[in-house]
Amino acid sequence: MFLGIDIGTSAVKASLVGSDLQLVDSADAAMRSSHPQSGWSEQHPDLWRNATITAVQALMSRHDAARVRAIGLSGQMHGAVLMDATHQVLRPAILWNDGRAAVECDALQRDHPDLAHVAGVRPMPGLTGPKLPWLARHEPEIYGRIAHICLPKDHLGHWLHGALVTDASDAAGTWWLDQKSHGWSPALCAATQTNPDWLPPVLHGTDIAGHLRPEAAEALGLPAGIPVSAGAGDAAAGAVSLGAVADGTAFISLGTSGQFFVPTTRCRAAPEVGLHSFAHTLPDLWFQMAAMLNGARPLSWFSDVANRPIPELLAMAADAPGATPLFLPYLTGERSPHGDAAIRGAFYGLENDTGPGEMMRAVIQAIAYSLCDAADSVRQTAAIPEPLLTIGGGTRSDMLLQTIADATGLTLARGKGADVGPAVGAARMAAVACGAASVTDLAQRPEIDREFTPDPERRSYHDERLTRYRALYEALKPMRT
Ligand code: XUL
Repeated sequence: MFLGIDIGTSAVKASLVGSDLQLVDSADAAMRSSHPQSGWSEQHPDLWRNATITAVQALMSRHDAARVRAIGLSGQMHGAVLMDATHQVLRPAILWNDGRAAVECDALQRDHPDLAHVAGVRPMPGLTGPKLPWLARHEPEIYGRIAHICLPKDHLGHWLHGALVTDASDAAGTWWLDQKSHGWSPALCAATQTNPDWLPPVLHGTDIAGHLRPEAAEALGLPAGIPVSAGAGDAAAGAVSLGAVADGTAFISLGTSGQFFVPTTRCRAAPEVGLHSFAHTLPDLWFQMAAMLNGARPLSWFSDVANRPIPELLAMAADAPGATPLFLPYLTGERSPHGDAAIRGAFYGLENDTGPGEMMRAVIQAIAYSLCDAADSVRQTAAIPEPLLTIGGGTRSDMLLQTIADATGLTLARGKGADVGPAVGAARMAAVACGAASVTDLAQRPEIDREFTPDPERRSYHDERLTRYRALYEALKPMRT
């Protein structure tokens, strides 16, 4: 068996796959982020390690640890883990959904307009590189002690096997990588006040990064010395779990964040449409991605606000008789397509008889409309193959998937185990790393559980609402603080 560990934002997930690369079992351990100021988002790396130990121990309490042959990693992208020369963490990691570096991004775009084509994406807060000029300005003492920077899964990797490395797909999200060459770009580093010596070597996801250290093995209850593969950022690891490692496959991810992901065999930067054109985790492969900061998160946000479980709200949304308001899902700003860290969520059209059911329906539609925006951006550079596969916790809702199909006009498919995703991709890469599977095996697609075909009658209803949803964003832009 092969173990995949995915450091998400709301939980660490651990999954086992068998020699057929199919999911055997999973366990997870929840985590919270802290938001010391509006628009800020942080987690201390200790949280990831502790949640990993909890999730892996829970999983291994049901399985024979001696049968685990290798470990693979996946993780939330873009987070900045800063360390001193002795590898001590200097401050909590600044995460992918942190908007503090907006001023620095404006300056980068103004002073270095050509660099977005090298980095594959416009400078946006949340990406790792732009956080460095922010740190230099606001936390000079910490900035002055930086000797190493790494990404969340690579920090866990350092504890697991002792080496500081990354993989191309996670490096891709830093705004330091030259996407074409898969190497660190001196120009991007210079523009972001980053010393390239602080950055780790870039491997491919199926390369062995090191072997499990005895101390980590003991904490996890696993055999010491088994190989640990470099793994991938969660978007690319999710792709591997779905076989999206060649032209002709695409998927949407509905987790805490959202992605519209199309693999490509050429690097085609299109920063002007808000896309991320990134190196994949395997050689000679890239992907076009619209990345949404809010994904399916508005479902759990509204569940907390309404103090009712998501399934109950979904049932209410199906039956609520009142008019559906419009909702903007931008709880933490938005990356694709707007690149707007300051916009926030909003309801419009509340009436006397608007209740939680009508509001939940608006939340579901807003998630679908954010994917309409994503599809329009992606279509400018790549064809969208159908059925579009789906992944992430949001796939548990048939209503959400049907609404996305109706609004986008795209046929969606949900595979078995779709809600697990990146941890499975990480485990599959571990199987390749130790020679138990080949890279071509990674193209294996999931067994389809259900397809969602668009209802043409619903399309015109959604088209009209999508127009108003987009107009609402434009109308509210001047209200940003
Ligand atoms: C991708 C992105 C998210 C994070 C957290 O660009 O920001 O997928 O990796 O899941």
